[in-house]
Amino acid sequence: SPGNRYEAENATISQGVVESNHAGFSGTGFVNYDNVAGAYVEFAVSAAAAGSRPLTIRYANGTSTDRPFAVTVNGTAVGSAVNAPGTGAWTTWTSVSVTVPLVSGTNTVRLTATTTGGLPNLDYVELQP
Ligand code: GCU
Ligand code: CA
Repeated sequence: SPGNRYEAENATISQGVVESNHAGFSGTGFVNYDNVAGAYVEFAVSAAAAGSRPLTIRYANGTSTDRPFAVTVNGTAVGSAVNAPGTGAWTTWTSVSVTVPLVSGTNTVRLTATTTGGLPNLDYVELQP
């Protein structure tokens, strides 16, 4: 539901800018990150109860090179890096899902580029029930 959606353009952005020149995004835009490892976005994700839940991450990658990123929740790495393969065009958006362990209340969820391509263009993350 939209109540569980966190737009990237409203998040804390390191080494990226909000843009709207590639159609198909939700909200008022998406975030275009610099092509550097270490670029990140950080969301304050609310949970009514502690537990592990799927987090959907919507992105576009108009290149043919993977743009993997690490996921941390409250400073702790979650699994291994998430791959973000090319989607064919910057206007073609797709979603990947990661299971995130949340505490009750506010959680800090950070996605950090692990390669020199940086992050793909990021639309939003959405916590699933
Ligand atoms: C292009 C595209 C951007 C994208 C960038 C990239 O410049 O217009 O939206 O972020 O490529 O390769 O990261
Ligand atoms: Ca970019």
